[in-house]
Amino acid sequence: MAYDVVVIGSGPGGYVCAIKAAQLGLKVAVVEKRETFGGTCLNIGCIPSKALLHASEMFAEAGHSFDTLGVEVTPKLNLKKMMAHKDATVASNVGGVAFLFKKNKIDAFRGTGKVVSAGKVSVTGEDGKSQEIEAKNIVIATGSDVAGIPGVKVDIDEKTIVSSTGALSLDKVPGHLVVVGGGVIGLELGSVWARLGAKVTVVEFLDTILGGMDGEVSKQFQRLLAKQDFDFKLGAKVTGVAKAKKGASVTFEPVKGGETETIDADVVLIATGRRAYTDGLGLKEAGVEVDERGRVKTDGHLKSNVPGIWAIGDAIAGPMLAHKAEDEGVAVAETIAGQAGHVNYEVIPSVVYTSPEIASVGKTEEELKKAGIEYKAGKFPFTANGRARAMLHTDGFVKILADKTTDKVLGVHVVGFGAGEMIHEAAVLMEFGGSSEDLARTCHAHPTMSEAVKEAALATFFKPIHI
Ligand code: NAI
Repeated sequence: MAYDVVVIGSGPGGYVCAIKAAQLGLKVAVVEKRETFGGTCLNIGCIPSKALLHASEMFAEAGHSFDTLGVEVTPKLNLKKMMAHKDATVASNVGGVAFLFKKNKIDAFRGTGKVVSAGKVSVTGEDGKSQEIEAKNIVIATGSDVAGIPGVKVDIDEKTIVSSTGALSLDKVPGHLVVVGGGVIGLELGSVWARLGAKVTVVEFLDTILGGMDGEVSKQFQRLLAKQDFDFKLGAKVTGVAKAKKGASVTFEPVKGGETETIDADVVLIATGRRAYTDGLGLKEAGVEVDERGRVKTDGHLKSNVPGIWAIGDAIAGPMLAHKAEDEGVAVAETIAGQAGHVNYEVIPSVVYTSPEIASVGKTEEELKKAGIEYKAGKFPFTANGRARAMLHTDGFVKILADKTTDKVLGVHVVGFGAGEMIHEAAVLMEFGGSSEDLARTCHAHPTMSEAVKEAALATFFKPIHI
């Protein structure tokens, strides 16, 4: 019997695609080589990092701001217990996916999947035995892997020189953590260990952290992280990472040219990006075209050049975000089922789960300038928000960018406590093509942090009330 859909990979893209396809009445199988479902995100990415980010934030707050609130405690770190919380969180999430597969009558094949040809997938188990399954449609959802530092040979042992995987499981707080790469992973995991007591130095190639984010956001965010004892070496290209007798050393040189510098570290985190994981999938043999970065080339409907083979998530171009993969998974399932699957790439929020959080959706000021689009900007700081003051969370601001003529909202950027939740009202507004006036005239409950979104909208189309 041929399956309607065989999904290779069970990360957020793959498992959501499988469930949606099954809900639409298709016969579905999933191939997964890891022991548990959920891919990088649930096992060694988003979910465990959020467990540690939350726990370490509680620890830091207990040590720093509780006293001002009249709560006198002396926090004591129990790292083992914190890690146990992380492990339990992962276990319940991956177990949840297994439950959903059963509930939706999705067959799961353990082993490494390979495309034999359109219509055929082989699965090789740990014992080396292979079986072939027939599939009217194959969805490649194999995700991504650590990219390493371009042009630099690094021996990642996941103890002293770690990727994000090792950084989620250190057995003690490093005295000095050097992070190579000031992107999302470096700043999130750097935050975990900084809060638990490590001195953190970030070495970043670009002149700014979180490259690609709105310039004003990354500047303010860098200032806030500096207050949390982050040290930054910007415009610095790492050219070597070597293990030492104790710890490791990181060598870098100014991008603009100049003296090479070497710093010692107890632990080095390599966070210089991820690459599509499509190795060994048999794509070349099956005639599936990939780009120069190994990503499956797809058309506007997530179809590869071979009929019946589709691809989604980190295995194709676009932002490497779990929710982008999920939405693509849904779209592919719907298209296969004969519906009109679609992803709106203009409205994909992104969140950095640091303290404060950074969240954005749509265009940055730099992008609008580059595209020659005339816009107006409205801003509101959390220092002027009553709820933020009550909670001692006054760092940050909301910034809204709207078309100068039509007032249509083109981008929203939030630095602040809970930004990752607040951003979604902006996403819904943008999905419906709303204006800053629409947002400003929507009643917002008082007192909430979200009132800053309303005030920023007021500032965009006319004037804010509270500043
Ligand atoms: P990234 O691409 O966000 O950042 C990597 C940084 O390393 C860049 O700023 C780059 O300039 C720098 N770099 C590269 N080579 C360097 C060198 N030789 N010396 C110094 N710096 C160098 O990659 P990251 O942080 O590893 O994350 C990987 C992917 O995972 C990203 O696409 C990210 O969006 C995603 N992710 C998303 C999360 C979220 O949405 N909260 C959380 C974690 C990861």
